[in-house]
Amino acid sequence: MKVVRSKRELRAALDERRSGSVGLVPTMGFFHKGHLSLMRRARSECDTVVVSSFVNPTQFRPGEDYESYPRDEQRDIELARATGVDLFFAPPVDEMYASDHCTTVRVRGGLTEVLCGDPHRRGPEHFDGVTTVVAKLLNIVQPQRAYFGQKDAQQALVVRRMVRDLDFPVEVVVCPTVREADGLAMSSRNVYLSPDERQRATALSRALEAARRAAANGVVTPAEVLAVARGELAAAGVEPEYLELRSLEDLRPVESLERPALLAVAARIGRARLIDNVTLGGAEL
Ligand code: PAJ
Repeated sequence: MKVVRSKRELRAALDERRSGSVGLVPTMGFFHKGHLSLMRRARSECDTVVVSSFVNPTQFRPGEDYESYPRDEQRDIELARATGVDLFFAPPVDEMYASDHCTTVRVRGGLTEVLCGDPHRRGPEHFDGVTTVVAKLLNIVQPQRAYFGQKDAQQALVVRRMVRDLDFPVEVVVCPTVREADGLAMSSRNVYLSPDERQRATALSRALEAARRAAANGVVTPAEVLAVARGELAAAGVEPEYLELRSLEDLRPVESLERPALLAVAARIGRARLIDNVTLGGAEL
């Protein structure tokens, strides 16, 4: 595995191996099994696997955890190498953003203004930062496939819409959420949890799973499904930032469960802001 810091080095390394397909796994580093599952999937489907590791400043709001976002590059490099990654692209900020950069890729249409994009939460500008850096990475690497996790379902849907609307010649592959044994979705931010908070955090996946089961067992209205999930959260003393059922196609609120739906939750537990989701009715992203 080669570690590269500049776009030029990366292009040169890719040009050397241009035959065959290229898969890109964009990340912000501090790897866990969720990241590694994307790399493994890319390894099984592509001839060359590129992992980018870049804590992207433009997707953090002032006051969010950009400075304190967990980082351990040496460990990440070892894990990526052991997973069979070919190129590890870890550029400094000024390699990705010229000091006078002034172009943003903005997806709207109701996809970025809801859930985490609600202006009272991270805001649609969070997704502008994500789509801008992902667009840049797609142009830099020019992969045939790019891999994202269902854990960040809204992000995956937003990236997919950008790819469709701007005709990026890439297939967006969405991979299942990898969980701890007790259900907690793996996240780099889980390190922020104290042992007590870590225990309470399991309420998120428990709530989603209870609601999913209820829906599978004939609970039919969105309000009833949400009540099941809310009950589990309340029992653990977790007040969600949001708990919503939305269309898997366009993130509009759903009036019935006959169409593919996403049940998504966000909650602040101590210092950590955690998100999780499940699809209902066996639908997939
Ligand atoms: P990051 O949070 O590092 O996540 C990188 C990728 O790993 C994302 O596609 C995310 O959905 C996926 N992922 C995270 N936790 C997962 C889990 N438990 N199971 C499966 N996949 C998981 O998401 C970002 O970085 C950034 O926004 C990025 C897309 C890199 C743009 O900066």
